[in-house]
Amino acid sequence: MAQIRLDKFISERTEYTRSQIKELAAKGRIRLNGEVVKKSDTKIDSESAKVEVCGQRIGSSRYKYILLNKPQDYVCSTDGKDGETVLKLIPPEIRTKGMFPAGRLDKDSLGALLITDDGELAHNLLSPKHHIPKIYIVKLARPFENNYINKFETGLTLADGETCLPARVKKAENSDKLAFVELHEGKYHQVKRMFAAVGNHVEVLMRVSLGALVLPEKLAIGECMELLHKDVENLFKEQDFESFCDRYSPIFSANLINNQL
Ligand code: URA
Repeated sequence: MAQIRLDKFISERTEYTRSQIKELAAKGRIRLNGEVVKKSDTKIDSESAKVEVCGQRIGSSRYKYILLNKPQDYVCSTDGKDGETVLKLIPPEIRTKGMFPAGRLDKDSLGALLITDDGELAHNLLSPKHHIPKIYIVKLARPFENNYINKFETGLTLADGETCLPARVKKAENSDKLAFVELHEGKYHQVKRMFAAVGNHVEVLMRVSLGALVLPEKLAIGECMELLHKDVENLFKEQDFESFCDRYSPIFSANLINNQL
């Protein structure tokens, strides 16, 4: 049994400082195993305690894993130098002090972004050694051409001479200007540069999966959710690209079209 002070438990798992936690407890905003607890120095069992702050359950895990459906106009950084950061979109009840975006989406890109305070997991996720597949849906300026399939599969050479690992691409449903792309690496502006290399132009880009974790349909643009243990495991699994496209093409195509992106 790991005994820990309630305020330490909460401050390690949220952005609240100990003095804020004391205030919240005094106001009756903290519950321990369903009961209001007014003293923030109460000792709790960190493994079994059910702690809620302002109605939000605080997980027992030391680390937090949040999936954000990133909107356009937010930057994937922790400082605000180049614009509003994605961290602004995480509610304080689930944000922790050491959180950062694990990976990058351009300022004008949307979709699945993991935000965590687990440096080791982020390192493994981004490491080229693991080649975690990522799937994007793109809206193109010109119609999709079937010759892209072979060009992407054999490893494209970008305008600056850089070569890409083999990638998959497939036209999506409902429009000849929508396509899915699967990459196993993450070069700077890679998807945009790949389509530029075949003479097209990406107008909208949305990441729809990380490993086998698919952006949930119910997670609207700008919303986030805490991931469960099994979702985190899915980040490191693969899924079949063809089956993914067949299953999710109607959903994500409609998503882009309905959001008028
Ligand atoms: N490729 C891009 O070009 N932009 C992104 O945001 C992600 C992948």
